[in-house]
Amino acid sequence: MARNKIALIGAGMIGGTLAHLAAAKELGDVVLFDIAEGTPQGKALDLAQSGPVEGFDVNLKGTNDYADIAGADVCIVTAGVPRKPGMSRDDLLGINLKVMKAVGEGIKAHAPNAFVICITNPLDAMVWALREFSGVPHHMICGMAGVLDSARFRHFLAEEFQVSVKDVTAFVLGGHGDTMVPVVEYSTVAGIPIPDLIKMGWSTQEKIDAIVARTASGGGEIVGLLKTGSAFYAPATSGIAMAESYLKDFKRVLPCAAHLSGQYGVDDLYVGVPIVIGAGGVERIVEIPLDAKAKAGFQKSCDAVRELLVACKAIDPSLN
Ligand code: APR
Repeated sequence: MARNKIALIGAGMIGGTLAHLAAAKELGDVVLFDIAEGTPQGKALDLAQSGPVEGFDVNLKGTNDYADIAGADVCIVTAGVPRKPGMSRDDLLGINLKVMKAVGEGIKAHAPNAFVICITNPLDAMVWALREFSGVPHHMICGMAGVLDSARFRHFLAEEFQVSVKDVTAFVLGGHGDTMVPVVEYSTVAGIPIPDLIKMGWSTQEKIDAIVARTASGGGEIVGLLKTGSAFYAPATSGIAMAESYLKDFKRVLPCAAHLSGQYGVDDLYVGVPIVIGAGGVERIVEIPLDAKAKAGFQKSCDAVRELLVACKAIDPSLN
């Protein structure tokens, strides 16, 4: 059986970490693409030289030529610029929209059958734009945000409850960032929902509210600490979980920015919802009943994403 091929568009901090994880897990051969000359080649060579020590055996290639992504099974896109302290994800819109156009055209020409995972911010708008530019079917593209947001939520909850992160599940909806909607009723420790844990005296509503707020600004907290860029370990790990579910047909249920066509009362928008990722790409959108508070939060989140799409269309009229 031929090996899978994973194309990583963008060989920066997240791209390099994606390559390392994909290689260490032997998910397939890896092509790192970037416009910066030398960067993808250098990272690919460095990573290839860790193979004999770690014991993984995959081909790693760095390139500045889109032709090298031909036949990729998965494309993970991190090309663009990250945030600096004081910037919101939305501040990246103008510059990263242009990058999505170049990347979308590259995918359209060389890897139109790939499952595409977008990580570039502002995520929900960029995955929509990348889909428009690449022309891939809606079920073959989604954005990585919810896996990361829920991982952040799980980490903070595990700390609060003093239990293993392995036993904490978290449920988040909506756009990436400030307007994300953690649904505490569906977030659990070993199946026990958070509201019950509060009743059991494991925590207080105030503490959970503070954790929710910290999760929503979790990326900004890391930007503030790093000062020169944004988070990359957890974003890359989250992207790999999505790629692995596709390549191995795991059918994992993961919160991702996926195309809604009526689900949750939303039409033609990419926004974070639980989906099933398997060999068919986005195989199912999981539509759960929401209470009034979550519904209102989700609506607000969708409105914020829609506003960004209006801004995208104003910058690039070909998107109208
Ligand atoms: N085509 C390909 N690569 C590009 C292009 C382009 N048109 N424009 C920029 N790049 C490359 C840069 O050369 C750089 O190597 O994208 C890479 C981005 O890497 P970093 O600056 O290290 O950013 P990173 O931390 O990896 O984040 C990438 O993901 O989470 C988001 O907000 C984050 O939008 C940012 C993206």
